[in-house]
Amino acid sequence: MTSPAVTVRGLPGPPPLPALGNLPDLLRDGRPHRRLEDWCDRYGLTYQITTPAGPAVVTADPLLVDHIMRERPRLFRRDQQITRIIEEVGVHGVFTAEGDRWRRARRITSQGLNPAHLAGYFPALVTGAQRLARRWAPGGSVAVLPDLRRYTLDVTFALATGHDLNSLEQPKGRLATLLPMLLPAINRRMSVPVPYWRWVRLPADRRLATMLSELDSLIRIRTVSARERVAAGATPATVLESLVATPDGEEPFTQAELFGNVLTMLLAGEDTTASAVAWALHHLAADLPAQRRVRAEAVVALGDGSPIRAAEVRGLALAGAAVREALRLHPVASLTVVEAAEETELPGGDGPPLRVGPGTPIWTLMTYGSRRDSRRFPDPGRFRPDRWLDPVTVRQGDLRHLPFGAGPRACPGRGLAMLEATLLVALIVRDFDLAPDPASRPRERVAFTVSPAGLRVRLTRR
Ligand code: HEM
Repeated sequence: MTSPAVTVRGLPGPPPLPALGNLPDLLRDGRPHRRLEDWCDRYGLTYQITTPAGPAVVTADPLLVDHIMRERPRLFRRDQQITRIIEEVGVHGVFTAEGDRWRRARRITSQGLNPAHLAGYFPALVTGAQRLARRWAPGGSVAVLPDLRRYTLDVTFALATGHDLNSLEQPKGRLATLLPMLLPAINRRMSVPVPYWRWVRLPADRRLATMLSELDSLIRIRTVSARERVAAGATPATVLESLVATPDGEEPFTQAELFGNVLTMLLAGEDTTASAVAWALHHLAADLPAQRRVRAEAVVALGDGSPIRAAEVRGLALAGAAVREALRLHPVASLTVVEAAEETELPGGDGPPLRVGPGTPIWTLMTYGSRRDSRRFPDPGRFRPDRWLDPVTVRQGDLRHLPFGAGPRACPGRGLAMLEATLLVALIVRDFDLAPDPASRPRERVAFTVSPAGLRVRLTRR
């Protein structure tokens, strides 16, 4: 016999303050994702918190997470408050879309990111890595993250629009300056309790509006050339060209959706991959034996010069494992917030099922288990890339470690992200000796995604 369902209010959770709920506690040290994990240790895998908007379920239970991720977009949609904030900024893309608009945007953006398509972009990845190596050639203590962001921005911009932005060598270009400011601006809006900008515009909001209109003009220019190429009969070669090439009978994307989808790709692909690489370099700098092994592997797989071919990345198992391990210790997107689209029951793990009403926010912790479960992840606090060479860890860890999400809305860019990150780590370790900078005390900073602040690595060209 199944036990009767409980409701959100029946779950344990940290005591809320009047009006603000658990928000002050959540934001206190600027690391809400870690606070949510600490509460999991205390209140169990599924608990409730209170935000100014009302109660929310938090879960790291693999069974629930699996169910929720599989049943999107039918039973669960992206949290509508988050969607509204992003769309108010003007970003109407695949990340916020639901229903048929999402299906279509997802199909088109995913096409541009599938392995067959990516092979065509491999030379751009290698060129970018070579520019990075030239930029870092003088060596010394290097703040690696800003340059890694320029690298990932260049790669994603090429994929989305076909244009070589080259922000690594022209870092003062408008797009290279504007885009890194956008995520922190969106994040700022997500962390204030009252959406004041709907009534009054502060200087930060006016700056954001100017920034967006400038981005819009820059992307409109690219849209015009994409339309011209497609109209001339060219097979779509970029995400933007695929978006403008509407098959007969299909409703075309609006200009706002074209802008939104290109911007979504740029935002989703930039910070995330750059942070994963930065953390991997940080840990390899501190772990000399692992660094030497990654180098030896890179020399065998890639040789010591160029050209580099896409197939050679398959020989970079240890570099790939270092990236996965960096993502385990410092997941860049460990929290996915959804809400129930209708009244539904979530399967109980060890306990009774949980009944949630339409609109109930559900905060899913996607990687909690991989830092707590010492049976499947021995010595979980340590950087041990080798664990990812063991197929048992990969298999058993799957539901406890979902850095790219799961189900129909799992990250469509994961193949590109792992390709970029693995190649970069291998090339940098092949060409530079990495050592820790004793003055560097990196800490996790949340700006929609989680990135390392204050991370520096000492580099010496080999
Ligand atoms: C280490 C790098 C990356 C990580 C950890 C990461 C992680 C994620 C996660 C957790 C999601 C949310 C899935 C959900 O809602 O359940 C997501 C969505 C998404 N990611 Fe990534 N991502 C990375 C790189 C990229 C790259 C390189 C691109 C493309 C250039 C990309 C494009 C997207 C898009 C378009 C979505 C929205 C998908 C949808 O809503 O259907 N990501 N990513």
